This record gives sequence, C-alpha cells and structure tokens, in this order.
Amino acid sequence: QKSTMLIDKNFTVSEVDPRLYGSFIEHLGRAVYGGIYDPGHPTADENGFRQDAVEAIKALNVPIIRYPGGNFVSGYNWEDGVGPISERKRKLELAWWTTEPNAIGTNEFADWAKLVGSEVMMAVNLGTRGIDEARNLVEYCNHPSGSYWSDMRISHGYREPHRFKTWCLGNEMDGPWQIGAKTAVEYGRLANETAKAMKWVDPSIELVACGSSSSGMSTFAEWEATVLDLSYDNVDYLSLHTYYNNNHNDTPNFLAKSLDLDQFIHSVASICDYIKAKKRSKKTLMLSLDEWNVWHSIGSSRAEERWQVAPPEFEDVYTHEDALAVGCFLITLLKHADRVKMGCIAQLINVIAPIMTETGGALWLQTTYYPFLHASNYGRGTVLQAVVSSDKYDSKDFTDVPYLEAISVYNEEQGQVTIFAVNRHLEEKMELSVDIRSFGNATLIEHLVLESDDLKAVNTKSNPQNVVPHAGGQSSVENGKVQAILSKASWNVIRLQ
Ligand code: AHR
Repeated sequence: QKSTMLIDKNFTVSEVDPRLYGSFIEHLGRAVYGGIYDPGHPTADENGFRQDAVEAIKALNVPIIRYPGGNFVSGYNWEDGVGPISERKRKLELAWWTTEPNAIGTNEFADWAKLVGSEVMMAVNLGTRGIDEARNLVEYCNHPSGSYWSDMRISHGYREPHRFKTWCLGNEMDGPWQIGAKTAVEYGRLANETAKAMKWVDPSIELVACGSSSSGMSTFAEWEATVLDLSYDNVDYLSLHTYYNNNHNDTPNFLAKSLDLDQFIHSVASICDYIKAKKRSKKTLMLSLDEWNVWHSIGSSRAEERWQVAPPEFEDVYTHEDALAVGCFLITLLKHADRVKMGCIAQLINVIAPIMTETGGALWLQTTYYPFLHASNYGRGTVLQAVVSSDKYDSKDFTDVPYLEAISVYNEEQGQVTIFAVNRHLEEKMELSVDIRSFGNATLIEHLVLESDDLKAVNTKSNPQNVVPHAGGQSSVENGKVQAILSKASWNVIRLQ
C-alpha cells in the first residue's frame, strides 16, 4: 500500500471551533449518578464529584458539554433540580423509565463543568413544556439579579449568573420515542417562538434548533427544511445526530461509515443553504453535530425493571476497530470545520462513553478515549485542505473507500502541524508520503500510534492497558516530505514543529 498527501499552509478549510471537541452528559444510566457524582467514592470532593473522573475528563480538554439530555430533557422540569437538595422531589422519569432523585441539577452541573474546564450547552424542554419554562430558565441562569428567577438563583447560593451561552431548543423532537414528539410545523413554530423569548431575556445566547434524529428518519430533509423555514432568522445552528455500529461484523464496511457522516453533513448544509437562498438571507447557518459516536446497543430497550435510580444503561465496551471508526469520524468533522462548529461525542462517561467507572470503585479508559484525546489536544488551529491519494476498496454499502483517511491541522500559535491518519487496510501496512512544502524545515515531534493485532481488543477494569497508544510510530522528515509507515488498521498522529 502506498499513499500520498499534500498540504500547504495557504490552502485552508477553516479555523477549528474548539467546541468541535464537545461531549454530552445526560441523566441516563450511570452518567451522572455513579459517573461524575459518586459521594461514596474515595476521590469524591465535598460535593460528591469524583476527582478521578474530573482528571480523566480534563485531560480530554472538552470545551463544552451538553446537558441534561437527550431524551431526558423532554420530560424534565428544571425547577425540580434547583434549591435545597433535601427538599427536591423524586420523580418518575419517562424517557428511560427510571426514578430521578434530582440530587444533581443545573447549579451542581455548572459547578462540576467548571471543575473540568468546560462550558455547558444547556437544553430546554420542548417536549412537555414550552416558551414560558424556557425563558424562565434563561432568566434563572443568565440574568444578573433583580428579577424573580435571577433572585431565586441567588437565594440558592449562586450570586454570579452562569452565563450559559449555547442552548438547545429541545431534543430529537421528530422521534416518536420522544416525550411530546412533534411534527416539523409544530416544532418549527415552537422553536421559533421559544428562540425569540429566550433571546429577549438574554440577547447574547446562541440557539441550536433540532434537525432530524438521524438521516434514517423518513422525514429527514423535509424536517430540516420545514423547521428552518419557520425559524431561520432566530436560530444559529441546526443539530445533527448520528450513531454507527458494526453489529453485522463487517469491519471494512464499518470503517467506511465516516463516508456516510460526510454525506450527512453535506446534505444538511445544503438544506440550510436552500433555506438561506429561499429567504434571500445573508446569514449562513452553522451545524452542531451534538450527538455522534459508535453505539452497539442502540435500539435496545430501556431498563427491564422500571423506576430504578440510575441503573446501568448502554455501557458499551469499545473495541480497537471502534477506536479506528471514531478516528475516521473525527477526521470527517475536521474536514467540515467550516460548517460544523460544535460536535458532542455522545456520551462522556459510563453511557456509550470513552470513560468508564465502577460506582464507588475503579475508573478505566476505553479504546475510543485515545483518538478523541489526540484530536482534541492536537487538532486545534486551522484545518488544511489535504490532497490525498490512496488505493480504494468497495464494501457492502460504499464504493471507492480510500484506505487512507487523513487530514492535517496547523496550529500557528504553537508553530505545529499535526497529521491525523487512519489506515483502514486490515491486513497491510501503508507507506505514506506527505508533501509539506510550505513547512519545509519542520521536524518530527512524535508519531503516536494506536494499533492492535486484534480488531476486537478492548480495555476493561481488569485489563485497562490492553489498547493504548504508543509514541514509536515510524516517521521521518526529509526534503520537505514526511515519510511514514502506517501499520495495518491503525490510528496515527504525526506531530511536526
Ligand atoms: O445519547 C443517547 C440518546 O440518543 C439521547 O438521549 C437521544 O437524544 C438519542 O436518541
């Protein structure tokens, strides 16, 4: 296998919005209770937040975290989660058929987000609720003082407003599984009117309207067009959600699924631009891929026994090939950095997550933690257009899948260029030659590799170091060219200075 790549600092795609490396924590499974909040854990602080989890998340450098749902938000009364904890109500939670103790709510989550250095991407309930509760929540969170809701926040011990900047107008409102699901017209009107009221309370906020729950929905595309037709002027982003898996055990096809993500982003951007044209608008709508990941257990039902508190749910164990898929998805997001400004790997801890914990016990990092870690830490700056050439293959659902998936990011401030590359070939290594002509004098910092002879290898509590990256990749720089060997089925990060 031989492949080539050409990059030049003058050929750019876009600045990377740091929020591309966002994530998501929902009141679902053991994400909140047992994940971030575990008062009985030896590392818990005085607020019950596990510090081992804080450290693992801080290392990921996650700039924004979506909260509190997800499907959960569509039945959530935010008032249940504020005020003295001893007075909070336990409620039946209808999205996941659990009991929500409300020990963690908006203020506690804001405190925790500060610990990990993240902003909060707050979601409002447009399932069972509407304009009034949404504008009250903005007033409670963001208004300094002197009004009923802002003074209530102060009385709850939070003198300073949270100043949440990014807000989601509901969640997956097209999905029949959603509490209070809506038609596109119903949702488009509600999103528009809610957006107006929320921005009248705080004009500095940015709003994300719900796109389809996935491109597989029968209403996909028509939903986006109708919703935007009704709300274009008052919203700032449209959401995309997508999950993939290898449940048919066809790895070449699975690793090609980033081509589907690529097409999905193209399609949604085109729909936004169609509405822009139709409205003769000057505004270009940006995209928020605020749920994406590999999800094996997707579609499995809710907890068998109803009304438990935080039962384990969707605790997928990720393999080496899942990490390669996540790497391909991250590269795809970077290719679209001109349009996709926010992304949320869904989710962050214990629920389809890169980080796993045992309630009261160990924490370990899944295979998928590592490509995200690398992209988030080294993929900041400007994405460069990459002219890539490699052999291709056909799979069950895709034709002309390049064996090489690659992109590069130039961080001018640090004077560093990083090449992210996945070799999709499952049997053969690849010789990669990268023409870095405008970075002619660059030298190699390191070549990180995530590889394994076993595509199904996983990290577990008892074997947490089974699949971890190493810095011994084979790369050299000579005469304005990087010559690298990419092992079969590997994720590579070639860092130059
Ligand atoms: O991330 C898990 C669930 O997937 C979310 O609650 C929902 O929005 C999506 O269907």
